[in-house]
Amino acid sequence: MAGGTDRRTRGPAARAAVTVRVPAKVNVRLAVGAARPDGFHDLANVFLAVSLFDEVTATPADALTVTCEGPDAAEVPLDRTNLAARAAEVLAARAGREPAVHLHIAKRIPVAGGMAGGSADGAAALLACDALWGLDTPRAELLDLCAGLGSDVPFSLVGAAALGTGRGELLTPVDAGTFHWVFAVADGGLSTPAVFREFDRLTAGTDVPEPACGPALLAALAAGDPDALAATLANDLQPAALALRPRLADTLAAGTAAGALAGIVSGSGPTTAFLVRDAAAAAEVAAALAASGTCRATHVASGPVPGATVLP
Ligand code: C5P
Repeated sequence: MAGGTDRRTRGPAARAAVTVRVPAKVNVRLAVGAARPDGFHDLANVFLAVSLFDEVTATPADALTVTCEGPDAAEVPLDRTNLAARAAEVLAARAGREPAVHLHIAKRIPVAGGMAGGSADGAAALLACDALWGLDTPRAELLDLCAGLGSDVPFSLVGAAALGTGRGELLTPVDAGTFHWVFAVADGGLSTPAVFREFDRLTAGTDVPEPACGPALLAALAAGDPDALAATLANDLQPAALALRPRLADTLAAGTAAGALAGIVSGSGPTTAFLVRDAAAAAEVAAALAASGTCRATHVASGPVPGATVLP
C-alpha cells in the first residue's frame, strides 16, 4: 500500500504517536515512620488522584529527547533526570531496544509541588512508550518498573484511591466517594529528600510510632463525607514543610478563613490542598485564595479519577 504503514511489519499494536493523560495526587493521610537503614521511611500513605492532569506524548525519534510546555515548563529538567526519560530508558532496556523516542510533556501539575507531578510523567511515559512500541507489558511488570522509578510512581499508574505502604509503593485500593479540592501553588518547589531530612531532624530523639491509617479516615473516604474527611486529614510531613517554608501557614490560614473545611500541605509540599464541600465552594475558596496574595496560582479539582490513561 503506497505511502501507508504495513501493520504486519510494525506489529499490530505499534502506533505513530501515543498520548497518555495522568493525574496529580493529594495525600489525605500521610503517616511517616522512622528512617529505615536504606534512608527511606515506611509510610501509611492514603493517595487520592485528582482531576489536575499532565499529558505525555511519545513519538518515534532517532534518540531520546524530552520537551515540555506549560506555565512552569522552564523548571522541568529535560535531561535523563526527568522521570519520563528514565521510564523510557528502563522500558527500552527491558525490551532490549533503544529508547528512541521523543517525549513531550504538557505540564499542568505543579513542579516539585508535592502532587507527584514528576512521578505522574514517569508513569505516563512508561505507558505511552509501551503502547508506542507495541510491547503490551503485563500490568504487574509495569508496576514493578514504576516502583523502581520512585515511591509515588505506581500510584500515578493506578490512580483512584489507594493506601500505599512500604515506602509508598505497595498499593491497596480503597473505596472513595467524590471530594472537591482547591490547590494553592506556592512560589518555587520543595525538595522531597530535604523535607524528609527535616522530618528526621524534628523527630530526632523521639519515639516515632509505626505509621498507620485509622479506620475513621477510610470510613470518611468510603462514605464520600467531606466533613468527616476534614476531621481526619493529616500529614506527618506538614511540620517539616512549614519549618522549611513558614509562609505556608499564611496560605493555610487564608484557605480556611475563606471557608475550606480543612487545609493541609500536599505530600512534601509546598502546594497546599483545601477540602471543600462542593464545586461552588471550590470556586469561592479559589477566588479568595487568589486574592489573598498568599499563593502564586490556584487549581480547582475533584477526585478520585483514574490513573494514567492512553488517550484515543
Ligand atoms: O522514591 P522517591 O525517589 O520519590 O523518593 C525521593 C526521596 O524522598 C528519597 O530519596 C528519600 O529521601 C525520600 N523518601 C523517603 N521515604 C519514602 C519516600 C521518599 O525518605 N517513603
